[in-house]
Amino acid sequence: MVLLVFFLMLLSCRRIYCLTRAVLEMLKYLQYGKLYFQWKLWYKDDKNSKHCVKGITFGRRGNKLDLYYSPSMDNSDAAPVPVVIFVYGGAWGSGERSIYCLLALQMAKELNASVICPDYSIYPKGNVLNMVQDICDSLLWVRERGQTFNLDKDNIVLMGHSAGAHLCALTTLFLVNSPEELFIEVHKQRELVSAIKGNIGLSGVYNIMDHYKHEKMRGVEYVSTMHKAMGGLENFDYYSPTSLLKKLNEDQLKRVPPVVLLHGTSDIIVPVESSVRLSDLLTSLSIRMSLHLIPKMNHTEMVTDLMAPDRHFYHTVFGCIKHEYSKFQGYVA
Ligand SMILES: *[C@@H]1O[C@H](CO)[C@@H](O)[C@H](O)[C@H]1NC(C)=O
Ligand SMILES: *[C@@H]1O[C@H](CO)[C@@H](O)[C@H](O)[C@H]1NC(C)=O
Repeated sequence: MVLLVFFLMLLSCRRIYCLTRAVLEMLKYLQYGKLYFQWKLWYKDDKNSKHCVKGITFGRRGNKLDLYYSPSMDNSDAAPVPVVIFVYGGAWGSGERSIYCLLALQMAKELNASVICPDYSIYPKGNVLNMVQDICDSLLWVRERGQTFNLDKDNIVLMGHSAGAHLCALTTLFLVNSPEELFIEVHKQRELVSAIKGNIGLSGVYNIMDHYKHEKMRGVEYVSTMHKAMGGLENFDYYSPTSLLKKLNEDQLKRVPPVVLLHGTSDIIVPVESSVRLSDLLTSLSIRMSLHLIPKMNHTEMVTDLMAPDRHFYHTVFGCIKHEYSKFQGYVA
């Protein structure tokens, strides 16, 4: 009996220790002091309105998006410009589009594309299905309203980080499957998929059960919003891109756009195996894909380092993204 109590005490200590560590990790996020003020100031400064339009309402839930102009927009009679939709992460329960203004700005410059950064209905405002619907709505917005901003409605790349990478992959696979629960007409869903030229996943989660096990190991599954956003364990499979892929038929598999995966090898929040497993599966299904493992990079650096050219991994990550993006655009064989 005494032994048992002692054992239970040990267990709960471990849990508290793990929880504390999770909170510390979150605090580290705020430690990017300089960047924090840089983005706050940039976003507030009215002079920057020449680079972007902020707060455009879109979709069925009235979420907002920011649009960052491609550098080629100065030339008013230029051809329609390609679009990148960047979906931020935050464990399906946090995040906000303004944080990514510097990233979106650099992305627009590096890729010579317009970048859209949408908010979506994070938990508890919405569940994962609502989030997928919101990403679909941002795609629909480009197709239906994009010409006002000279956007090319047939040339959209979806890019996401962490939970955002999961949502991009899930949105694409849902659209390939045309389920009724998106509440979008089937022919429109087909058009949306064919407008997606590629999917770029940064440090993404692609199998919810695997990730849940990882959260448990870190002792953060109770503070994590993931299982709640998914509506419980019974839905983990349904909302896992890896499981959905296995259920697609030949015709559907052919319509899956090419995939690019990037992941840092020092990522402890989402382990690199997540991208490696997805890449193995995609390869076995003959879906075009590339995997880039970036030595020593962690989970947050994947986005913070895209915010300014003087950051450590800026050139490494943008080097990969630019190369892969030009393949999507057909510039490189
Ligand atoms: C940028 O894209 C525009 C069209 O969107 C194109 O006209 C221009 O040549 C491109 N610039 C570069 C440097 O590739
Ligand atoms: C990632 O690396 C940066 C820089 O080395 C560090 O400041 C940060 O705390 C790390 N973040 C995590 C979550 O490990």
